[in-house]
Amino acid sequence: MTTETKPHTIKPAEGKLGVLLVGLGAISTTVIAGIDAIKKGRTKPYGSLTQMGTIRLGKRTEHRSPMVKDFVPLANLNDVEIAAWDIFPDDGYTAAKKAGVLNDTDLELAKTALAAVKPMKGYFDQNWVKKLDGNYVKSAKTKREYAEQLMDDIKRFQKERGVSRTVVVWCASTETFAQRNDAHSTLAKFEKALESNDPTIAPSMVYAYAALKLGIPFANGAPGLTVDTPALCELANETRTPICGKDFKTGQTLMKTILAPGLKARYLGLSGWFSTNILGNRDGEVLDDPGSFKTKEESKLSVLDTILQPELNPDLYGNIFHKVRINYYPPRGDAKEGWDNIDIFGWMKYPMQIKVDFLCRDSILAAPIVLDLALFMDLAKRAEFRGIQEWLSFYFKSPQTAEGLYPEHNLFIQETKLKNTLRWMMGEEQITHLGNEYYGM
Ligand SMILES: NC(=O)c1ccc[n+]([C@@H]2O[C@H](COP(=O)([O-])OP(=O)(O)OC[C@H]3O[C@@H](n4cnc5c(N)ncnc54)[C@H](O)[C@@H]3O)[C@@H](O)[C@H]2O)c1
Repeated sequence: MTTETKPHTIKPAEGKLGVLLVGLGAISTTVIAGIDAIKKGRTKPYGSLTQMGTIRLGKRTEHRSPMVKDFVPLANLNDVEIAAWDIFPDDGYTAAKKAGVLNDTDLELAKTALAAVKPMKGYFDQNWVKKLDGNYVKSAKTKREYAEQLMDDIKRFQKERGVSRTVVVWCASTETFAQRNDAHSTLAKFEKALESNDPTIAPSMVYAYAALKLGIPFANGAPGLTVDTPALCELANETRTPICGKDFKTGQTLMKTILAPGLKARYLGLSGWFSTNILGNRDGEVLDDPGSFKTKEESKLSVLDTILQPELNPDLYGNIFHKVRINYYPPRGDAKEGWDNIDIFGWMKYPMQIKVDFLCRDSILAAPIVLDLALFMDLAKRAEFRGIQEWLSFYFKSPQTAEGLYPEHNLFIQETKLKNTLRWMMGEEQITHLGNEYYGM
């Protein structure tokens, strides 16, 4: 890749875009209801960079700041067709009711759109999500056969709904903690492992494999390994398909990646950061299992190190006590509460404290991310980008990066990276914020 300012050739967003969501739970139903409400003019796409964002082009004196959606050729919301898999047979309306994110009025207004989404049977393996026992699941002898069934689902969906392009976004439960192993190291080994039912191949990997085999972009909203293996990167490159992950950046981690860069920018020291959450939705129940929690914990813990760079700033950040807790507390439902106690120090090492009490709504924060990722991944595919899309780190707690590269967690650097990628794609100058041209230098 080069940094020259020549527009990329981007195929137009003609026809319909199919968005296949794995999991029809709290996030997915909130996405469906929200898109319906936006299309019908009942609300605006709050929280969505693709729909509400602007992008500055050229010098500040030029006053050029188009909407992102007018600058890059994104699919129109009216052309989006959504379907989902789940391991329970509830349609979108029933699932949304159970998820308890939306109030009764919004639920009823979106009833037709939600009820129209009847899930396709999922591929489930309880070894990977201990707290669930799905009864609406596929059956096959090998993981390769599961992959083929998923590919058949995708092709059927594409035909029945007449979509010209498709993306897949993992919005299903967090799987148990897994590390890369030999079966994930090359595509050939991965395919052999599918055939031999290797227990280290998670269902999410099989979904990702099915999508990538068909050249369909895959975004991973959960913290699991999923598409973050050399084998699936190889497949993505082979089929010239974009991939990205992991773990939607919402709630507490979003706040962490907003606050920590500020502390670091002013060289304020940090001695401890204690984060705890209470939440009572199904995601919280799944995370009550130590295996699933470990996957999430790893993802949540990783952010401070790369933002604060203790190896470069040992006096400020060399001895941080960082703790993250998630507590399943059913009365809260989806209305999570996240507390942070941050112990900082300044001049002459005088201690200070910051307390954050974020009464957030997880799925309300996650829904616009799903929409943006679906639209940007489709754009990336049409621009012939392939493999890991690091410019979409902005949306993830634990961004997937090239081998040997540390991820960038600072939200503001991530935003600059995303917007510079859009400028680069469209042949516009990158913005460095140097600004010396205004002062005759
Ligand atoms: N809400 C957030 O802010 C947020 C942030 C980051 C990551 N996430 C992750 O996003 C995912 C979805 O979150 P949610 O709140 O919608 O959870 P949820 O529990 O409400 O929904 C997940 C759905 O996935 C289904 N499912 C589980 N395994 C499946 C499989 N193998 N195939 C098909 N469907 C399957 C479940 O039955 C459930 O309906 C979770 O992994 C969560 O950790 C959420």
